[in-house]
Amino acid sequence: MVSQNIAINNLKEFALSNNMPHMIFAGPAGTGKTSTALIIAKTAIKKQNYYANVLELNASDTVRMDFVRSVIKSFVNQNLMLGDSTLKFVILDEADNIPNQVQQALRRIIEKTSSNVKFILLCNYINKIIDPIVSRCAVFRFTNLSKKKIVERLKFIVNKEKLQIPQTRENKLYDTLYFISGGDLRKAINTLQMSVSLELIDKLDSNEILKISGFMDEETLEKLMVAINAKDIGEVKSLFDIIESLDSRNFIRQILERIGDLNIQPNDYNNLIAFMGDVDYRISQGADEKIQLIALIGQVIRYISS
Ligand SMILES: Nc1ncnc2c1ncn2[C@@H]1O[C@H](COP(=O)(O)OP(=O)(O)OP(=O)(O)O)[C@@H](O)[C@H]1O
Ligand SMILES: [Mg+2]
Repeated sequence: MVSQNIAINNLKEFALSNNMPHMIFAGPAGTGKTSTALIIAKTAIKKQNYYANVLELNASDTVRMDFVRSVIKSFVNQNLMLGDSTLKFVILDEADNIPNQVQQALRRIIEKTSSNVKFILLCNYINKIIDPIVSRCAVFRFTNLSKKKIVERLKFIVNKEKLQIPQTRENKLYDTLYFISGGDLRKAINTLQMSVSLELIDKLDSNEILKISGFMDEETLEKLMVAINAKDIGEVKSLFDIIESLDSRNFIRQILERIGDLNIQPNDYNNLIAFMGDVDYRISQGADEKIQLIALIGQVIRYISS
C-alpha cells in the first residue's frame, strides 16, 4: 500500500491486535479501501481457510434482504453452533448502496454476532450508512492520494514493468497522469496502462493521453481561454463543436484550474465557483451538458473585469 494518513498507517497493528473492532473504511474511489480490507483478511487468515472464513460481498448481493438474512446470518451463526472461535471476516464492499431497511437487518446481525466475527464495511459516503452501524465500528477515513504518492507509485510500476520513459519528458507525463487521476490511484494506473497499450508512452504524447481520458488537449484549452478572455462567445461555441467526446465533469475541472488566471474580482470569483457547483449538480441530474457548459462559460465571461 502507498501509505494513506496516520490512521491508516497504524491500521496494521491495530487490525492485527487480538481485539480488533468492526471497521468502516470510507473515502473516495481508488484510494485503497478494498485493497486494505483484503490485505487484513489475508494476513489474519491462513490461505487454506480463506474461503471458509472470509465472506466478501458487494452491493449487488446486499441489496436483497433475503440474501442478507440467509447468507450473512448463516455465515455468522456457524460459529455460534460449532463453538468455533477462529477469526472470521465479513467484507461488505459498496456498503453505502445497501438500502436502509437491509442496513437495519444488518445492524441486528452485527449486534448479535460473536466476537470472533469482524465486519469490514467499505463505502464512498459514510453518511449513507445508518448511525447504529457507524457507532458499532471504528471508522477510517481514506483520502485522495497526494501527487507525491501517486507519482511514487507510478514510478514503482514503471520500474517493475521496465517501461522506457525519456527523462526529459518524464515530469510532463507524471503531471498529466496525476491531473487526470485527481488523486484516484486506480485511475492513474489505468491511464498509464491505457497509454502503454495505445503506444502513447513512446511518443509521450500528453495531449493524446488527455484526450483518451476525456479531457481537452492543451491546445484546445488554450484557445478556449483566449476566447473567454476576449469575451468571444461565438468562438467558444465553435470550439465546443470540435471537442471530441466532451466529458462535462472533466471540462469543469479543467476550467476550474484555469479560472485563477482570469481577471475576476474576489466576490465574483466566489459566485462563479458556486455557479460551477450548480452546473455540476444540474448535469448530474440529467440536464443537457452542452447548454449547461456554455452557460457556465457565459457566466465566466460576464464576471471578467475589463
Ligand atoms: N493506497 C494505495 N496503495 C497502493 N495501491 C493502491 C492504493 N489505492 C489504490 N491502489 C491501486 O488502485 C487499485 C484500486 O484500489 P482499491 O480497489 O483498493 O480502491 P477503493 O478505495 O476500494 O476504491 P472504490 O471506492 O472505487 O471501491 C488497487 O488495485 C491498487 O492497484
Ligand atoms: Mg473498493
